[in-house]
Amino acid sequence: VDRVEQLIRAGEVVDLHRAVSVPVPLRGIAKLLGVPERDHPYLSNLVPRMINVVDPTAGPEAIADADEAFGELAEYIVRLVAARRTSLQDDLISALVTVREEDDQRLSDDELSNMLFTLWAAGFETAATAIDMAVLAAMEHPDQTHWLSDPAGATFFVDEVLRWDPPGQISTSFRFAAEDVGMSGVLLPRGAQVRLLLGAANRDPESCEDPDRFEPGRRASASLAFGTGIHYCLGSRLARLEMAVVVSTLFTRLPGLCLAGAPVRRRSMPLRDFESFHVTLSRDRVA
Ligand code: HEM
Repeated sequence: VDRVEQLIRAGEVVDLHRAVSVPVPLRGIAKLLGVPERDHPYLSNLVPRMINVVDPTAGPEAIADADEAFGELAEYIVRLVAARRTSLQDDLISALVTVREEDDQRLSDDELSNMLFTLWAAGFETAATAIDMAVLAAMEHPDQTHWLSDPAGATFFVDEVLRWDPPGQISTSFRFAAEDVGMSGVLLPRGAQVRLLLGAANRDPESCEDPDRFEPGRRASASLAFGTGIHYCLGSRLARLEMAVVVSTLFTRLPGLCLAGAPVRRRSMPLRDFESFHVTLSRDRVA
């Protein structure tokens, strides 16, 4: 953020997505897990390819590409776990390897790999999108940026961003009706596959008053941005913290931050992520 601040103050246009929104959560999860820095670019490029697997609109080529990316990440994780076995370090992978070695009833090899795989796959592209969305929401609602002047207020702001326009519009886990269920006059037969439209649920007028209005601090009904039930997002606290810190730091230091062209989104249904997000300082603030 310091470097971005310098560039923007010097009148440069910066791609915030690449300069801040991806690196902050990427380094966060990589440090936690213990993924070496030299591998970050390679591994971070696998995730947008993998997301296609949960996109109902993805064609056969995109699915095949996602499969390949899944295979590459799985192989990488198996190698990383093997490396930690011979040399433990101060990271989550080493901690999980130790649990596995001490008690193989508690964590099988497959469970260990799957857990690391899911943490990597879920851990930064979602949060990067959420950071971009929070910055966009602040630019679109300048009358609400007063929430960003302290960390507690920023938390209310990011919670409303996550309700109003969550990064994931559709649940990624596949769910099946355990029995015939009638819902809004439609019968879901036993075994039917069900996907949840999280963005639509968050704007359900029955659970949220005037749901299209962006209103941080509102008496929020439950937002489904992080899912619900046993698959509720493991990283929700980390992601909210990352969003709150980045968006409040940016707008406290650079209140005139504005778009330098329309942000470019990737065409993906499950995650409304960005390819680029160019920002600069509004002219009346440069002086
Ligand atoms: C704002 C950012 C994020 C959003 C919007 C988000 C959203 C979600 C959602 C909706 C689910 C549930 C999927 C379902 O039930 O179908 C989920 C699950 C999960 N998320 Fe996140 N997530 C975010 C950040 C993170 C981060 C930073 C991590 C890791 C540190 C993470 C790790 C996970 C894991 C491991 C699961 C699977 C939990 C399970 O199946 O038991 N997420 N996330």
